Amino acid sequence: MTLDHDRLKKSWALVADHGDQVPLFFYSTLFLHNPHLRDMFPVSMADQRDKLVAALGNVISGVDQLDAVVPVLQQLGRDHRKFAVVRDHYPAVGHALVATLEHFSGPEWTPELAHDWVTAYGIVADVMIGAAEAAADQPPWWELTVTDVERRAVDIAVLRVVPHQPLAYVAGQSIAVEVPQRPRLWRYLTPAGAPGADGGFELHVRVVAGGVVSTAIVQGTRAGDVWRAGAPVGTQLTLAPGPGPDLVMLAGGTGLAPMKALLAPIEADGRSVLWSSDTGPTQRLWEIANRTPGLSALAIDTSFNNSLQPIADISLHLTPRTLVQELEKLERKVPILLHHLKPPCIDEIRREIKELRNPDLSYLEQGRIYDF
Ligand SMILES: Cc1cc2nc3c(=O)[nH]c(=O)nc-3n(C[C@H](O)[C@H](O)[C@H](O)COP(=O)(O)OP(=O)(O)OC[C@H]3O[C@@H](n4cnc5c(N)ncnc54)[C@H](O)[C@@H]3O)c2cc1C
Ligand code: HEM
Repeated sequence: MTLDHDRLKKSWALVADHGDQVPLFFYSTLFLHNPHLRDMFPVSMADQRDKLVAALGNVISGVDQLDAVVPVLQQLGRDHRKFAVVRDHYPAVGHALVATLEHFSGPEWTPELAHDWVTAYGIVADVMIGAAEAAADQPPWWELTVTDVERRAVDIAVLRVVPHQPLAYVAGQSIAVEVPQRPRLWRYLTPAGAPGADGGFELHVRVVAGGVVSTAIVQGTRAGDVWRAGAPVGTQLTLAPGPGPDLVMLAGGTGLAPMKALLAPIEADGRSVLWSSDTGPTQRLWEIANRTPGLSALAIDTSFNNSLQPIADISLHLTPRTLVQELEKLERKVPILLHHLKPPCIDEIRREIKELRNPDLSYLEQGRIYDF
């Protein structure tokens, strides 16, 4: 019997319509029959119950594109080693999934559909298990000691961590971490720069409003804390080795971190770089701009205009006025293009820039093609 992919997709769409009830049923079934698995999952699962279940439904019902998803599944399988998942755990998850699908499918559930789900789950599980077992020479997770914590602003911390074993990542990749203050809640962070001689690297963390882990990291991390990290992941922000086309780098807030990491590989290859950033902690922006080889222009999002100077000062943002005062920290002369996202203030910022009469400063006009 072959797999009917359309039937699988329709079946998942029907079940997913039941919303939060689906993960609730799945986890109740899983933990009722396999209480030993409970400890692998976060203590409170109220707000993220559907991470695994949504993935199971989407990934497995999309298995007709197997070739396209194999690398992703392999990475997922290897990544599951950080949750201490092994081959023996897969049947329990498969059974709970099928029981959940049967429960919510009602009269649509047929032996043929059951066969499709079991087969598709088996295919996905085999790829994940195979990749995880093939990576047995790598540690399932890495331990990192926090050696330095610097609060850059009320809501931002820059931390330095040193892995106990070599942890090789490519600039632009991210790493899932688990911190002792929030066990089993893994979150991705992005190394900001190449590793030092001791293998240590910087992480920039910004509090997300109501965020369980980011708040704990920024407010609660102390030097000496030991974290866990998964294998580095991601290919979307990494650069192919060797010379390449000119770059436009766009970053806001802690998004500066991967951009900073990317400076090392482009250091020697002579391409031109246009930096665009919001003006978070500005000292950092100048340092990066001064180090960027081939910098051709800087585009900066000024979140505040001059009339909001006090708020800008408290939140460490630049206004056009302070930007001009800070420009001496930029060791090279490049065009600076300011822009602003909120329409009511754009005219005001344009006017303020004009009044400053600085030839290097202008407003970044939407739709205009620049040639640097
Ligand atoms: C590939 C990748 C790389 C990342 N790199 C970094 C990094 O270098 N530095 C860093 O500080 N963060 C980074 N993040 C974000 C980080 O992983 C967490 O998502 C973030 O810290 C929030 O986690 P939390 O537990 O505090 O929030 P949660 O408790 O999970 O969420 C609280 C609320 O905030 C919302 N929320 C969650 N994440 C975000 C977000 N990023 N922006 C806005 N709202 C959000 C949720 O929907 C929820 O409503 C990265 C994320 C990814 C996917
Ligand atoms: C085909 C099989 C599986 C698929 C497709 C799958 C997929 C996923 C995905 C995509 C995530 C989210 C990862 C992230 O946010 O970084 C996840 C999380 C997780 N998975 Fe799996 N998984 C599978 C099997 C298993 C098995 C067998 C176990 C072991 C019991 C397991 C345990 C976990 C745990 C503990 C988490 C973290 C949950 C959380 O943070 O809420 N998974 N899985």
